[in-house]
Amino acid sequence: MASFEICGGRSLQGDVKIQGSKNAVLPILAATVLNKGITKLYNCPEILDVYNMIKILESIGCIVEVDGNTVTVDATDTISGVVSLDYVASIRSSIILLGAILGRTRSVEIPYPGGCVIGERPIDMHLKALEQMNVSISEADGIIRCETKALMGGTINLAYPSVGATENIILAATLAKGSTEINNAAKEPEIVDLCLLLNEMGADIHGMGTAHIIVHGVKRLHDARYTIMADRIVAGTYLAAAAVTCGSIQVYDVREHDIKSILQVFAHMGCGIVIRNKRIRLIAPQILLPVESIRTRPFPGFPTDMQSQLLACLCMAKGQSIIYEDIFEDRFKAVEELGKMGANIRIDKNKAIINGVPKLHGATVKAKELRGGAALIIAGLTVEGDAKIENSIYVERGYQDICDDLSGLGACIRIVEDR
Ligand code: EPZ
Repeated sequence: MASFEICGGRSLQGDVKIQGSKNAVLPILAATVLNKGITKLYNCPEILDVYNMIKILESIGCIVEVDGNTVTVDATDTISGVVSLDYVASIRSSIILLGAILGRTRSVEIPYPGGCVIGERPIDMHLKALEQMNVSISEADGIIRCETKALMGGTINLAYPSVGATENIILAATLAKGSTEINNAAKEPEIVDLCLLLNEMGADIHGMGTAHIIVHGVKRLHDARYTIMADRIVAGTYLAAAAVTCGSIQVYDVREHDIKSILQVFAHMGCGIVIRNKRIRLIAPQILLPVESIRTRPFPGFPTDMQSQLLACLCMAKGQSIIYEDIFEDRFKAVEELGKMGANIRIDKNKAIINGVPKLHGATVKAKELRGGAALIIAGLTVEGDAKIENSIYVERGYQDICDDLSGLGACIRIVEDR
């Protein structure tokens, strides 16, 4: 295993290009299965989750070529509908392959993706929607088996705007007979990116980015090229790092629309936000102001994927803040570790009460999942002295070059193999 080693206390300054989006490229890689041809993707982040998704595509018959941030998927050959446990265990979001493989092979067997540290992560909405599209589903020994004579469009009313369920329905509907209406669809920018890629491949999708999406099934897709959107959560993470280090940084390639709710929170905390020529600058105050109360919400609300990073920032704000995690049931994994650095946080069910302290101190702490690990890095950047964050692999799942990016902004951070 490896750890991040930080010597804190430096203020971040400068410009940083934001990598391609993890949560856009994963469903888009699944979508390439629907084209019996070649799909070329640019600006793919070089992260573990992408490598694991590529291994799954190769295991079902795709030929994948990776050249830096460019990934070319050739799905011409026959696609197998059997996805092995080896890979699903490494990336639970592989469940979005259900809709894509069904669109190609009419049958799929995939291990039930377990929960993860942030919550049970059920897929009932995914399965219920597919059943409404003429798919018969059985589960035995931890394997989900789906079969259909033909995917049929229909009207799907989602009980909750689930990102993954919306993606799976779109992928299954693309080559289905008839049209599919999704009501209460998720509106995340990553879903818009998926739909733009699919339309580039010849799909007929409308309403993406709204709660009402319509997919008119088409007979086949064709080759396409597409550039993945920038990662709004990576951008938010770096802005948070600048906010807590009295820094002033510019992020670019990310769209203001995608991070509006994040910018609003930092402005509320006393940060200056300046947008010029599509570059977004955050200028931090000497001391951050608290946030009386904030809830994580589906897009366009404040994203749950930024909750841990905001929590880390509020540890040193001047006063008490309260964060409600309303989306996942167990997403305060960084709190115990932040406490080892001197943070004053109390958890009451899905509520975190943070009483700001003047300073955090160095410590050796453990990353337990992706965004909580990023939060520990943010906290580590502020300490006088050294901080060590173990299990860096969790963060490398979603951040392509967090050490290089933060070092380029003046941080003293490196990854060290554990002895
Ligand atoms: C996606 O997960 C993202 N992952 C998550 O990012 C993100 O936190 C989440 O959306 C919310 O924005 C990817 O895109 C790969 P959901 P997903 O379905 O699709 C419940 C990160 O850090 N639910 O919108 O799994 C579920 O338990 C990751 O990058 C059901 O009950 O999220 C959760 O409480 C973490 N039944 C809520 O809905 C279902 O069938 C939101 O889940 C599906 C979901």
